[in-house]
Amino acid sequence: MSGALDIKAPGLKGDNSAFAFDVERVREDFPILKREVYGRPLVYLDNAASAQKPRQVIQAMTDCMENHYSNVHRGVHRLSQEATDLYEAGRSKLARFINAGSDDEIVFTRGATEAINLVASSLGSTLKPGDEVIFTQMEHHSNIVPWQMLRDRTGITLKAVPITPEGELDMEAFDELLTPKTKLVAVVHISNALGTINPVKEIAQKAHAVGAKVLVDGCQALPHTKVDVRDLDVDFYAFSGHKMYGPTGIGALYGKKALLDALPPYQGGGEMIASVTLEKSTFKAAPHRFEAGTPAIVEAVGIGAAVDYLNGIGMDKVAAHEEGLLAYATQQLEAIEGLTLHGRARDKAGILSFTLDCAHPHDIGTIVDRMGVAVRAGHHCAQPVMDAYGVAATARASVGLYNTKAEIDALVEAIKTVKDFFG
Ligand code: ALA
Repeated sequence: MSGALDIKAPGLKGDNSAFAFDVERVREDFPILKREVYGRPLVYLDNAASAQKPRQVIQAMTDCMENHYSNVHRGVHRLSQEATDLYEAGRSKLARFINAGSDDEIVFTRGATEAINLVASSLGSTLKPGDEVIFTQMEHHSNIVPWQMLRDRTGITLKAVPITPEGELDMEAFDELLTPKTKLVAVVHISNALGTINPVKEIAQKAHAVGAKVLVDGCQALPHTKVDVRDLDVDFYAFSGHKMYGPTGIGALYGKKALLDALPPYQGGGEMIASVTLEKSTFKAAPHRFEAGTPAIVEAVGIGAAVDYLNGIGMDKVAAHEEGLLAYATQQLEAIEGLTLHGRARDKAGILSFTLDCAHPHDIGTIVDRMGVAVRAGHHCAQPVMDAYGVAATARASVGLYNTKAEIDALVEAIKTVKDFFG
């Protein structure tokens, strides 16, 4: 990848200095970015929902299926060994990407949701009435509902950290909620609805001081910034492949090895056992004790290729590029009369949730789509965030590494069209 700052996409306005790499060259890697929508160039600004895939990921998955595919960890034959090596290479790449202590700290799951449900089920089975789990008002539903289901099964107590009007966690409230009864703090690293980057390291230090474990939902963080789970010193970190330019159907749970080994299995089945008799079963060590059944083999290859792709650009450059886009988009959207930006955290990633005085978010989403601009409209699976702002929904533009200033301009033009339509 080029480190040059020389961006010459047509229609760009202002200073390009925030861009950290040749974005036009990166765009060449993503076949879908060449297509049109309603006769206009696709402007894909729904990356927080799911990111597009580079050719390198698509080719790695195709190569696996065309040349190396078999089941893994089961065969003595050549193809099974090749497929197993590729599958485990995906795990190793993820482990290095987030600076895990070893490959064994990466459990493959179906996605971040399953990773959180795994912890809620396995760690949850060790909790008893009177124990407390803290989550926040900023969580995606996937980091709320599993804890409510656990509470209903076990009688634990749930507490939620409120958010400030700017969209930051109220850390004073967190300090008050945290007690020796707290067994787990479940917190999102970067809010999918607001873009807020939470002080996860500080939260982990405080939680550990009262003996609680920390689970972080890292879905939105991993594609956008360098994550070092050992520096953060979190106990569990959940994420999904499809938001980091990899395939759907795969994600992972990072867990400290000693913790994972101490947890009971999540699902029972093939390949997670040490032995089975008709009376009882014993289980493998982590991560395999949590990977019952045939796993997502091709997808593990794909997520590994996504890691290679991100490393090829450099996460520091990805973050710098997106910070530039966020600053530019914030300035442009703020200049639109009647537009309210929700989420103004001091530390923020490239997610812009907004409402217009004159139009419902679904109307915004529908009209801008006709101009080729893909944004998400709705509650973003974060209804408590919407409640905090007194809205039912927002429109949300979320940037990825291939977005350009020209695309932000296209978004702004599309929003002006919405205003004209309803004006
Ligand atoms: N969680 C994804 C989003 O925020 C789907 O849109």
